[in-house]
Amino acid sequence: MAGYVAIPSKESLNLERSSSEESLAEYETSSKLKPKFVWRVWPWILHLVIFSLSVSAGLFVRPAQRCPTTRDALLYDHPYDRRIRLNGTFNRDSPFKGPPSAEVDKAWDDILPLRLMNIPEDVFQTINTSQHSVKTPPYLGEGRLAIFEGFHHLHCVRSLWKAAYPEYYTEDAEFSRTNHEDWAEHIDHCADMLRQKFMCDADSTLITYSWLKNHYNPHPNFNVEHKCRNYDRLIDASDKYGIVLDAVPEGGIRRPEDKEVVDFVEPPFDPLATS
Ligand SMILES: *[C@@H]1O[C@H](CO)[C@@H](O)[C@H](O)[C@H]1NC(C)=O
Ligand SMILES: *[C@@H]1O[C@H](CO)[C@@H](O)[C@H](O)[C@H]1NC(C)=O
Repeated sequence: MAGYVAIPSKESLNLERSSSEESLAEYETSSKLKPKFVWRVWPWILHLVIFSLSVSAGLFVRPAQRCPTTRDALLYDHPYDRRIRLNGTFNRDSPFKGPPSAEVDKAWDDILPLRLMNIPEDVFQTINTSQHSVKTPPYLGEGRLAIFEGFHHLHCVRSLWKAAYPEYYTEDAEFSRTNHEDWAEHIDHCADMLRQKFMCDADSTLITYSWLKNHYNPHPNFNVEHKCRNYDRLIDASDKYGIVLDAVPEGGIRRPEDKEVVDFVEPPFDPLATS
């Protein structure tokens, strides 16, 4: 289970530091509290009193959407804190490009742990998803089962990429023939999820054009710098909150026999739905 880690916002950190540092510096340079000093300091004291009052009032007047007490940065803070120039040149090698091989598969496996996590209940309460989401079975911890969307997206990209190489991924190709409807449903699901995600992000990075030797027309330059998050943090978080696979019984996680659960025909859209 995750420990309690308090992560105050940057703003509150700066506020607290500037007020206390200034008054501390004043205190050290004056042996006695001069009246002038008191007048300069009292607005800070007033500020502190009002601040403490509002904080303690906040403890009694809790909004419906509660703040999590498990403020682990690994689950919360995923800032766009890096600039990465993407590799977009058509014929440039990448460990993730075809032709498929054991090495390419390993590269994909390494960035796709697809690890199921047990997230704390108070974190779950902040994400506005179905209130009847599956609870983690007691033998794996206490919380809710979850997985990062970022892994799901890459899983989808990988599935679409694999579909381009049926002669290598023969098992998938066989499935696409024998269960064509299910196979097409998965491919459609993946393409449509990625469409929604990319429209949600609406990446407004600009792609410019270059003149290339022996080409008549301008050529797009996809080697563009992007604002990025740290992908490794998803892997670190899924290591930290990942369920212990050895503890999962054969046949996987099953519905509890001793408790009622809310059954749905399809995963609900409305967080409050009960059927
Ligand atoms: C391109 O991608 C690789 C990893 O795939 C990276 O190591 C490299 O620095 C990138 N940039 C260039 C200019 O090749
Ligand atoms: C949660 O989701 C529902 C359904 O999409 C939406 O109507 C509601 O405003 C959301 N609640 C919050 C607090 O964002």
